[in-house]
Amino acid sequence: MGKALEGIRILDMTHVQSGPTATQILAWFGADCIKVERPGAGDATRGQLRDLEDVDSLYFTMLNHNKRSITLNPKTETGNKIFAKLIEECDVMVENFAPGAIDRMGFPWEKIQEINPRMIYASVKGFGPGPYEDCKVYENVAQCTGGSASTTGEIGRVPLVTGAQIGDSGTGIHLVAGILAALLHRERSGRGQRVECAMQDSVLNLCRVKLRDQQRIVHGPLTEYPQYPNGTFGEAVPRAGNASGGGQPGWIVKCKGWEDDPDSYIYVITQAAAFHAFAKAIGREDWLDDPEWNTPAARLPKLDQVFAEIEKWTMTKTKFEVMDILNPLNVPCGPILSMKELAEEPSLRATGTIVEVDHPTRGKYLTVGNPIKLSDSPSEVVASPLLGEHTEEILKDIIGFGDEEIEKARTEGAI
Ligand SMILES: CC(C)(COP(=O)(O)OP(=O)(O)OC[C@H]1O[C@@H](n2cnc3c(N)ncnc32)[C@H](O)[C@@H]1OP(=O)(O)O)[C@@H](O)C(=O)NCCC(=O)NCCS
Repeated sequence: MGKALEGIRILDMTHVQSGPTATQILAWFGADCIKVERPGAGDATRGQLRDLEDVDSLYFTMLNHNKRSITLNPKTETGNKIFAKLIEECDVMVENFAPGAIDRMGFPWEKIQEINPRMIYASVKGFGPGPYEDCKVYENVAQCTGGSASTTGEIGRVPLVTGAQIGDSGTGIHLVAGILAALLHRERSGRGQRVECAMQDSVLNLCRVKLRDQQRIVHGPLTEYPQYPNGTFGEAVPRAGNASGGGQPGWIVKCKGWEDDPDSYIYVITQAAAFHAFAKAIGREDWLDDPEWNTPAARLPKLDQVFAEIEKWTMTKTKFEVMDILNPLNVPCGPILSMKELAEEPSLRATGTIVEVDHPTRGKYLTVGNPIKLSDSPSEVVASPLLGEHTEEILKDIIGFGDEEIEKARTEGAI
């Protein structure tokens, strides 16, 4: 059972989150991922949000598993030559620096192609071509400019960013899809190509249903939004609190213990097919014969009352008891799980989605393993590299340097 991407070598010029997420997935699948970092400094996240003194932060370790690290400054003469040789020897180059940074290092796409016509060159930028193409972008900027923030939050309140890193990790996952498509295409064409993902585009892609609603709104109110029928709609898709966003009404309701536990809630979806059993379970059989309640159309204008009744019942049970009762009735629901609960969840440990990793200077810590499961090529999670940990072995094995050349490169500040 070989790893799926064994034999593929990645020149990883990524930093912070979006790019490293992409190369980490490729590394989990078995690609040899060579992370190039600035000598003496490395990826800025090594030192950000540190919980332990002088130890790589969890921010860095959790985004850079299964990689090798080389320190290299391509802006020095020797560094430039080493970098050119790495381009020659790698299949994919991934970067997410500010627009133009790799060009300024002396490696525009034309030169990369000239050195290695089979190279796949993948980039993440904040924006695609247009008025903002030169801007630097972080996660929340992408959430705001990609349509997520304007459609997330409570009705009539400020736009909200989400905890899910849809701008960074979301774009990284998009980039992986592009890289794999380009690798497959290279099998047939023999040539590499550029893969570009803008964070704004990726967030917008994840907000696809909201662009759907933007086009529906011109034909009348969005009936599944809580603003219907008593509130007002403007010209753009509004925030909709916890409404489901799909064709089946859903909401978050309190469960037993909510007064003390901020996560004692559950999301319930009152899909029509299971409504009969749901109404019985919460003691509202009377709804079933009442034309005021017994059809989705009748319930639609008073969903707030439906969920208020449901909540009276859920408040008498824990979120897990509600889950146990409603799931056999085919009522889709999901408890609001805290990070503590997820970290301790045995089934996620069993599947390798939550993994304990041993790091040489940090010791043991938890991380999210590869969420993409391949039946014949399982992933194992290996600790992130220390800064420059593999510099010498990469220079010897791939570049063909001997001890003297390595020493010279070090003295020049190239590595
Ligand atoms: C994330 C971001 C905002 C960070 O900006 P920043 O900290 O100012 O860093 P930059 O990307 O501008 O790069 C910094 C410099 O480091 C240099 N550098 C990077 N690696 C180097 C190395 N190994 N050796 C020498 N110099 C190096 C770059 O050449 C660049 O120099 P230049 O501006 O003089 O050309 C920016 O990189 C960006 O917008 N990236 C694209 C979008 C993205 O991925 N954002 C999400 C990040 S999670």
